[in-house]
Amino acid sequence: MRVVTAAEMREIDRRATEEYGVLGLVLMENAGLKVFECVRRVLGGVDGKQVIVLAGKGNNGGDGLVAARHLLQHGARVKVMLSGEPADVTGDAGINLEIWKRLGQRLYLMQDRNAIQLLQLALMQTDLVVDALFGTGFRGEIRDRARKVIEAVNESGKPVVAVDIPSGVEADTGAVRGPAIQATHTVTFGLPKLGLVLEPGAGRTGELHVADISLPRPLVEAEGGRYLLTPALVRDWLPRREAEAHKGRFGHVLLVAGSRGMVGAAVLAARAAALTGAGLVTLAVPRSIQNVAAGFQPEIMTLGLPETGAGTLSRAAREQIEEFLPRASVLALGPGLTTHPETAELVRELLPGVRVPCVLDADGLNAFGGGERETDRNSAGTPVGESLPPGGFREKPDLVLTPHPGEMARLLGLKSAAEVQADRLGVAERTAAAWRCTVVLKGARTLVAEPGKTYINPTGNPGMATGGTGDVLTGVIAGLLAQGLEPGPAAAAAAFLHGRAGDLAAAERGQASLLAGNLLEYLPAAFHELGA
Ligand code: APR
Repeated sequence: MRVVTAAEMREIDRRATEEYGVLGLVLMENAGLKVFECVRRVLGGVDGKQVIVLAGKGNNGGDGLVAARHLLQHGARVKVMLSGEPADVTGDAGINLEIWKRLGQRLYLMQDRNAIQLLQLALMQTDLVVDALFGTGFRGEIRDRARKVIEAVNESGKPVVAVDIPSGVEADTGAVRGPAIQATHTVTFGLPKLGLVLEPGAGRTGELHVADISLPRPLVEAEGGRYLLTPALVRDWLPRREAEAHKGRFGHVLLVAGSRGMVGAAVLAARAAALTGAGLVTLAVPRSIQNVAAGFQPEIMTLGLPETGAGTLSRAAREQIEEFLPRASVLALGPGLTTHPETAELVRELLPGVRVPCVLDADGLNAFGGGERETDRNSAGTPVGESLPPGGFREKPDLVLTPHPGEMARLLGLKSAAEVQADRLGVAERTAAAWRCTVVLKGARTLVAEPGKTYINPTGNPGMATGGTGDVLTGVIAGLLAQGLEPGPAAAAAAFLHGRAGDLAAAERGQASLLAGNLLEYLPAAFHELGA
């Protein structure tokens, strides 16, 4: 499902009005009606129920006033509390304020001296709160009276239906810089806004309903740059296995991974690739751990490679890997390699010559970020950042990078993961565009950015923040690439399925005891749900 910014939504509204003649007042009426219908569903009927509607002075408040009117019409006792001066409410919202007054209804004003006490009393009696304070026009931080109002509502524990977006959440980023409404339901109009699907905004949204408010279909269904992953979207990408299929059709994953201390990373990734349906999987590891690695999964072939004294891959491994590559349809490089300088050198030498789709993960990524190399660039006075792709990344459209925020920060020469987290979407999109590859920025709401298009993954849970889950993701991506999916869809589908496996595992085992290995147990169910 397409996800939009506030500006994109404004443009859709504008075109609906100017090009199609759908009046703003009609859109507002429909929006308020959809909010009313949601309230009615949540409360199981509104007759005799008490509802507080918090209305701002913008169009979001206008939607709230329409909802208030429909609630009244159906027998609810409604208190409308307005932030700001009634005289400041203009345009369509002003029209709806006027109707509310002509219906003989009282208006409570937030700036009145006793407004907060009054609200607190009303909150005790109320069945539900409609939050129409701020919508997509909101930026920054909520202050003063509105701040107290939001705190009182959140403390009341009453159900809250947010209009379009919970107040205090920024529509374009999901940022929450001060107090913000904790909604139990959000009715958003036309298309979901980014702030509703990116954290922390997503966590404030509650159950998300996308309401049709008569925006013309061509405007709503037009292609866009950002999509929320849904089961339907992922199902469409997944490979089908025809009756006459043979293993040659499903590709051969070559996974170069592992070291003496990290056999597990290699094995997890290899098993994930096999469970994803790759025709063949060959796991290439340092010679001394080959036998151990081979013992875990009989379906997986192994290749023993030259190693350093530390039990990590040595530069001499390059020849054998390159000899093998013509038989592989995908290379996955990174899990458990360590940051041993010689192994990192191997990665840097190997990557530029790879002609098959490639997933670069973990220490494969670290080989290109941090340490001496970044310092050199900095001291040379060159800004290290998104404008500067490390050697080997440039113009490799079939390359999938899977950094967590720390790895991303190192790749970009940023100081900390926090800098990445502060602008996850921007960082992922700019990096994918600059390096012309697919970037999987992991974390709560994993982002998959390819040049010009981004997918936002809603699956997964904090139980997955544990060692080895990233290795499983690498394996799933490689497995899907091997079966011919394009890099963007392969990475996006993998993120979705991986998170879903984690959600299924957590549902049965809880989050605390969730292990990366459990994801492998639940991957088949995640695929099966999508008919694969
Ligand atoms: N603090 C106080 N006021 C703010 C802040 C802030 N941090 N940020 C924005 N505002 C003000 C704006 O100046 C504007 O007056 O709040 C108002 C924004 O209110 P909205 O109702 O969100 O903006 P608007 O563009 O009028 O309406 C968009 O209308 O289409 C409906 O509900 C839909 O969300 C959508 C909304």
